[in-house]
Amino acid sequence: MGRLDGKVVFITGAARGQGRAHAVRAAAEGADIIGVDICADIDSNQYPLARREDLEETERQVAKQGRRMVARVADVRDRGALAGALADGVAEFGRLDGVVAQAAICPLGTTDGSAFVDAVAVDFCGVFNTIEAALPHLGAGASIVATGSLAALVPGSLDNVAKGSGGLGYSWAKRAVASLVHDLAAALASRNIRANAVHPTNVNTDMLNSDVMYQVFRPDLAEPGRADALESFTSQTAMGIPYVEPEDIADAVLFLLSDESRYITGLQMRVDAGGYVKLRPQAPAF
Ligand SMILES: NC(=O)c1ccc[n+]([C@@H]2O[C@H](COP(=O)([O-])OP(=O)(O)OC[C@H]3O[C@@H](n4cnc5c(N)ncnc54)[C@H](O)[C@@H]3O)[C@@H](O)[C@H]2O)c1
Repeated sequence: MGRLDGKVVFITGAARGQGRAHAVRAAAEGADIIGVDICADIDSNQYPLARREDLEETERQVAKQGRRMVARVADVRDRGALAGALADGVAEFGRLDGVVAQAAICPLGTTDGSAFVDAVAVDFCGVFNTIEAALPHLGAGASIVATGSLAALVPGSLDNVAKGSGGLGYSWAKRAVASLVHDLAAALASRNIRANAVHPTNVNTDMLNSDVMYQVFRPDLAEPGRADALESFTSQTAMGIPYVEPEDIADAVLFLLSDESRYITGLQMRVDAGGYVKLRPQAPAF
């Protein structure tokens, strides 16, 4: 018996990183997958996004689990493309039970205002578009999971002028995702549809392992590399690790997609190795 037997899950940003981990983990527990990814770059974002071959690799890994995947190239900013991908997937599998809205960019290292706009368009509007496209297909017992970030919960971590306009946009979008999920949970509860957010600390994916991220974490060095950034990454957790793995987030998402969490909604679930309890803002003593 799998924990998602008979379910169909829609995942955005499914080509690599956490999205792929969610697809493979859900498939291993019995779900079929509908997955989309932009498979192209966005100008203001200074590290490469996924490619079509990455999405094909996710399809292969889902097939290895004995499950099927309908994979489409689609930009979460494009509501028509999301609706089309979902229509294809639901025609193939006959239902939709879960949504993981997690495609995002983190366009740090620039003061160009387009980085702010692009971060909000992908990281917040993309989540909203995903939920809007999925809702007509969801029935009682369905589960929506949106990926936020510890940046939503710890002011000053990325919403910091020194980290550029993209950091401000990323943080704004992630705070808005947290707020959206909270109110969406209230709005959908009477239909027995749940909505929860997962907030990761640093995760060992291409988003983190990029030159622009190293530079933001080590502004004191001219050309920092991964080794230089590790110490700074580690300062963001309480448990002495620099990052968690995509599979650590997939375990949390799996729980929220499964019926084991059937009465959990509106949750802001942190997977952060104690980052929040270490870094959260403290009330002034006097
Ligand atoms: N990696 C981290 O340190 C970290 C920390 C906190 C939160 N997060 C969040 O985790 C989620 C997953 O990120 P990741 O770490 O796997 O990074 P990633 O860059 O490896 O994966 C993101 C995926 O989203 C896709 N994507 C980007 N823009 C898109 C668009 N407009 N339409 C469709 N697909 C698009 C990319 O091509 C890529 O495959 C994101 O929401 C991110 O903000 C990541």
